[in-house]
Amino acid sequence: MNPVIRVAREIVIGWIIKLFTSNDVVRYETLKLVIEEIKQKKILGDTAELGVYKGDFAKKINAHFPDKKLFLFDTFSGFDERDVKTELKMGYNITKTGDFSNSNIELVLKKMKYRENCIVKKGWFPETAEGIDERFSFVSIDADLFEPIYAGLMFFYPLLQKGGYIFVHDYNGKTYAAKEAVQKFSKEFNIPYVPLNDICGSVIFSK
Ligand SMILES: C[S@@+](CC[C@H](N)C(=O)[O-])C[C@H]1O[C@@H](n2cnc3c(N)ncnc32)[C@H](O)[C@@H]1O
Repeated sequence: MNPVIRVAREIVIGWIIKLFTSNDVVRYETLKLVIEEIKQKKILGDTAELGVYKGDFAKKINAHFPDKKLFLFDTFSGFDERDVKTELKMGYNITKTGDFSNSNIELVLKKMKYRENCIVKKGWFPETAEGIDERFSFVSIDADLFEPIYAGLMFFYPLLQKGGYIFVHDYNGKTYAAKEAVQKFSKEFNIPYVPLNDICGSVIFSK
């Protein structure tokens, strides 16, 4: 892609993300309620986000949990070609390799209140999950595309503590195959979820 078009595309994507997600009262207020449950019930286990981008949702997780590790999974170079191939095959044609590449680890870490709790896993998920056998109390999966969302659920759900939660973003978006990934996982393992009336239509898995 022409580099000027690439930069313009990244700027527009950034604006859209900010516009649609920074005032998402339902998403943020639900996050607070879920966090209160985890704290009140003293659910053990770390936290994670798969799909961090500039860290605007991750910083909220971090700020609420001064005593839990936060694993930050992202390529930090945007969508991977392998995942984009699947989207295209499924008929989601807007997706481009490298979308969301205009971020970096330093920018993300600067936003974190408890930076010392952050463990950055840079690279392609699920490869970056290798060797992790922690248990989790809260996970946000916000990687947009079918492959990482499905792989994220396969990886994190078995590691979720009883009383823990997984948020998956974009379930009701029309741009990516997020809904297909959630439904495939739910159907295969007979695990229910609750849809949320936030801006991009998240779902919540609990255990
Ligand atoms: C919509 S953005 C995340 C937005 C962020 N959670 C927020 O609320 O500001 C999606 C992110 O998922 C990352 N991503 C997508 N597929 C991935 C994969 N297979 N491995 C790692 N990161 C991935 C992209 O690099 C991008 O930064």
